Amino acid sequence: MLPTIAITGASGHYGQLATDRLIAQGYAKHLILVTRTPAKLADRAHVGCAVRAGNFDHPESLKYAFDGADKLLLISGTRVGARIRQHEAAIHAAVRSGVRHIVYTSFLNVSPENPAIVTEDHRETERIIQETGLDYTFLRDAHYADAMILNAGPGFIASGRWLTSTAGGREAMVWREDCVDSAVAVLTTPGHENQVYEITGPNRENFAEVAEMLSEVSGHPVQLEETTDDGMYAHFDAMGIPRKPVDDLSVAGIPWNSEDMVSFEQAIRGGHLDICTGDVEKLTGRPARSVRAMIEANRDLLRAVKPL
Ligand SMILES: NC(=O)c1ccc[n+]([C@@H]2O[C@H](COP(=O)([O-])OP(=O)(O)OC[C@H]3O[C@@H](n4cnc5c(N)ncnc54)[C@H](OP(=O)(O)O)[C@@H]3O)[C@@H](O)[C@H]2O)c1
Repeated sequence: MLPTIAITGASGHYGQLATDRLIAQGYAKHLILVTRTPAKLADRAHVGCAVRAGNFDHPESLKYAFDGADKLLLISGTRVGARIRQHEAAIHAAVRSGVRHIVYTSFLNVSPENPAIVTEDHRETERIIQETGLDYTFLRDAHYADAMILNAGPGFIASGRWLTSTAGGREAMVWREDCVDSAVAVLTTPGHENQVYEITGPNRENFAEVAEMLSEVSGHPVQLEETTDDGMYAHFDAMGIPRKPVDDLSVAGIPWNSEDMVSFEQAIRGGHLDICTGDVEKLTGRPARSVRAMIEANRDLLRAVKPL
């Protein structure tokens, strides 16, 4: 008998990929998909998934959202700084509904020494989940390579310039699909109760090395330029990126905010994200894919960018 799995953020990039993979494994009628706008997931309802309304900002809307679920894939929300309260509402609803196991998408290195501002939300959410006494699995995802290569990459190529304050610091960026595949493995195979996994790519790289790969594959030179954190803020301000997160606001197609981005640069510079593990392979049975593989898989898209 398959367990019933509830998923928050089911309409997002991560949630849709996870849902597709679970449907492909025969879970359609064992999925409860939670969204603020159920109409968005009409296609999933059509194949037998239960689609329910739920809003992290309105705890009463979550009260029955997870009823009947054995496991909850709690995909972290998008509003940095508001997520402790938001996730807490979902976690309490999961307890009320009799969920036995919460799988949470956290972030790499949630220690208080890590200056990346996202870490507080994740650290506190992990704590709240542990306090429930339910089984848990924390998937501490590294930076998505998708964000840097597919979202930001075309801008670096067009301008020929990649501004950073990371000072050569390294991280092992990971494919979002590898994060999703790891989560699906945790949800569908036994033995992951009360485990923490660090979901990283296979190589520790600095941005100069990634800029070189982008230049080589796209055929357009991308020059890495070091600046200060203030220089990064000025750069993001000029692009119209808000300092703090704003719900559902994208600038240049990316839902980013500069406090988040600058604190990531600090974290990389300080070596707080310099972590590389074999957990993707441990969970999925195949090695994590590399940043170079993502650049090469998107060669045509990157070559098509017109330098300004
Ligand atoms: N490690 C990394 O580098 C990295 C990078 C990007 C993101 N992330 C994490 O991964 C998560 C998922 O990313 P994604 O790309 O899938 O995000 P996304 O495509 O922007 O989707 C966000 C999801 O959050 C849901 N949501 C937003 N506000 C909500 C609320 N108040 N109540 C209930 N649901 C709400 C949305 O659902 P509805 O609109 O349907 O309600 C949507 O499904 C992010 O939130 C972030 O924590 C990590």
